[in-house]
Amino acid sequence: MRFATALTLAALALASLPITALAQSSASSQVVAATPPMGWNSWNYFAERVTDKDIRAAADQIVASGMRDAGYVYINIDDTWEGERDATGLLHTNSKFPDMKALADYVHSKGLKLGIYSGPGTKTCGGYAASLGHELQDAQMYAAWGIDYLKYDLCSFIPDVMQKQAPHDEAAQMRLMHAAYEKMGKALQSTHRPIVYSLCQYGWDSPWEWAPALGGNSWRTTGDIEPHWDRIYTILEQQAGLEKYAGPGHWNDPDMLEVGNGKLSLVENRSHFSMWAMLASPLLAGNDLPNMKPEITAILTNRDVIAIDQDHLGKQASRVYADGEVEVWTRPLSGGAMAVAILNAGSDRIATHPFHLNLAALGLHGSQQAKNLWTGSTMQLTENMPIELPSHDILLLRITAPK
Ligand code: GLA
Repeated sequence: MRFATALTLAALALASLPITALAQSSASSQVVAATPPMGWNSWNYFAERVTDKDIRAAADQIVASGMRDAGYVYINIDDTWEGERDATGLLHTNSKFPDMKALADYVHSKGLKLGIYSGPGTKTCGGYAASLGHELQDAQMYAAWGIDYLKYDLCSFIPDVMQKQAPHDEAAQMRLMHAAYEKMGKALQSTHRPIVYSLCQYGWDSPWEWAPALGGNSWRTTGDIEPHWDRIYTILEQQAGLEKYAGPGHWNDPDMLEVGNGKLSLVENRSHFSMWAMLASPLLAGNDLPNMKPEITAILTNRDVIAIDQDHLGKQASRVYADGEVEVWTRPLSGGAMAVAILNAGSDRIATHPFHLNLAALGLHGSQQAKNLWTGSTMQLTENMPIELPSHDILLLRITAPK
């Protein structure tokens, strides 16, 4: 499927919404996800193997590791919890999740929140029952269980509805997709429970243009992340230019974290985490929490870096300039402060291609005092200073009083 013309379709989607719906969704989104949601999701590590026991262990460990106190509160069950619907249409869990209400109570007893997963088609991406025709019933069931977050994944809605009902009309297919996301958004709002609504449709048809008006608190901007640098960097590159769409209650989602997963080196884990914080992304860890190495815990709980992500202004970073394979991103922070990330995306040390910091290009005048958020040390930045970084490493700085 090709991406449709964003502007035309977004205009159509907005035109079809009554003004009151727009006003309500923006009012409630000020409460839900005022800063990017933080937590953990089962998919990146467990995929379809996740069980009730794994969710409880993740909740226990998020507390024991200090992650909860650093801000990670959502424990999100991804795909494969679903069983069959009964004669009344009520969806039951499968044998891996014997009692969802009891699980929600357990997670809540730890001062955490519980998230769940479904989609607008007949089936989820894993082939389990999804919500088509049962949106309100499912939303009410989530609220009764005490669910706090819903990831809603397009998947079989493409063949089930879009391709079936509008076989050769891409614009009509996109309108069907908008309507499906709006339907669940309204169903969630009608429960009066604050439930974060996370759209997962891989960035099709520029969701940043229309998702907030449908009640979306976040929307995936790309296809799935994978735990290796090339994929993470490819996703990063696709975020440049999207900064104007992020803000309190509505966030671009470059997908869940792979910190601690796959073949990522320590430096790559640090750079991935730093850049997702610069992007004001939801910070949903996806690693094996009970077996987390101390250096991974240290990355995920770095308070200074989390404070960048969670800054109340909610301004996502822009890529200001690139010099060869070195990229410089900045974001304004509350109180007039500024975050600066200098990333060596190349495979060589910068020493072989000397990089010199251009402060004027960042709107800064002369020497600046900055805090290095990975070492904690203070450094003086001067115009044109050379900076040397190993391949894939990052210098993440906070300038509290930029001049
Ligand atoms: C899609 C989503 C993933 C995950 C799987 C589950 O691929 O993008 O994040 O939820 O489905 O089946």
